Amino acid sequence: MSEAVTVLRRGGLVAVPTETVYGLGADASNELAVRRIFAAKGRPLSHPLIVHLADVQAAKAWGRELPTTFDTLARIFWPGPLTLVVHRSALATDAVTGGQPTVALRVPDHPLTLELLHAFRGGIAAPSANRFGKVSPTTAEHVRQELGTDVDLILDGGPCAVGVESTIVDLTHPEPRILRPGGVSREDLVRVLGRPVRLAHEASDVRAPGMLESHYAPRAGVLLVERAALYDEAQKRVAEGKRVAVLAPATARVPVKVHRAEVPEDAEGFARELYASLRSLDAEGFDLVIAALPDEKGLGLAVRDRLLKAAAPRG
Ligand code: TXA
Ligand code: MG
Repeated sequence: MSEAVTVLRRGGLVAVPTETVYGLGADASNELAVRRIFAAKGRPLSHPLIVHLADVQAAKAWGRELPTTFDTLARIFWPGPLTLVVHRSALATDAVTGGQPTVALRVPDHPLTLELLHAFRGGIAAPSANRFGKVSPTTAEHVRQELGTDVDLILDGGPCAVGVESTIVDLTHPEPRILRPGGVSREDLVRVLGRPVRLAHEASDVRAPGMLESHYAPRAGVLLVERAALYDEAQKRVAEGKRVAVLAPATARVPVKVHRAEVPEDAEGFARELYASLRSLDAEGFDLVIAALPDEKGLGLAVRDRLLKAAAPRG
């Protein structure tokens, strides 16, 4: 732990466990350190980072003109898988925000990282600890395999309990909007705020399918079909000579000769195991992963979002 603080203080990179996915952390106040994150990930500088803080009070210093919804959501969901986008204070530099006037803040719910944040007494900027566009890591081993020596220290906090990234809510408009569905369900946000909460793309113009950018993508191709079509589609692709795996719960029908990567029936379980399943299917050398989208209830919304982006055409 003290080594992690030392690495952060001298501008190094520490991979940190969170309840969602592992993050690639650096001192959020050190521009050079923050730039190392972008270099290690191969991430475009225009993609801003989330600043992780020890508690609500520390987070408040990074924002200004905070709306009352900030207090309401922070009090209920932090520490937890929720990221709040607010107008930035002078603490948030262009390196972290990509030059935007806003900053994304979160208090993660993992004992090791909370301990580190308290000991460090600063903000830790951290994106998911994977190469840009790839599947996020949910174990320390995933980080080791993916980033190797590009990271100075990896804190092993075991497998992530939630398994998909935090829900990002934009609080800079009169209506809170979900920029990315994640570990806090839309239903819970609606319940706590007492009003409808829209997804950002519902609030803006209709999004053309081609605008869906590839992200969270394994090496294998990803094909999404209706649950009832899993069986026939798998059979067809196998007949084409492809190495096919079906990502599906035990109750879905899958041809005997086709590999089933079993995921739990419930959305929370699916979310928890999604990324690790995609990684092991890549390791086993499958060409194609066929999956059915879960419905939008609870964490199903986040799982759908990740699968849709994993299946998007790759540039
Ligand atoms: O669960 C998580 O959120 C994980 C863990 C490590 O905390 N982090 C994570 O970071 O998923 P990353 O960098 O992979 O995704 C952060 C997302 C990006 O899509 C980025 O565009 C968005 O947050 N973001 C960051 N700052 C923003 C801002 N000021 N306005 C809008 N979006 C922002
Ligand atoms: Mg990411």
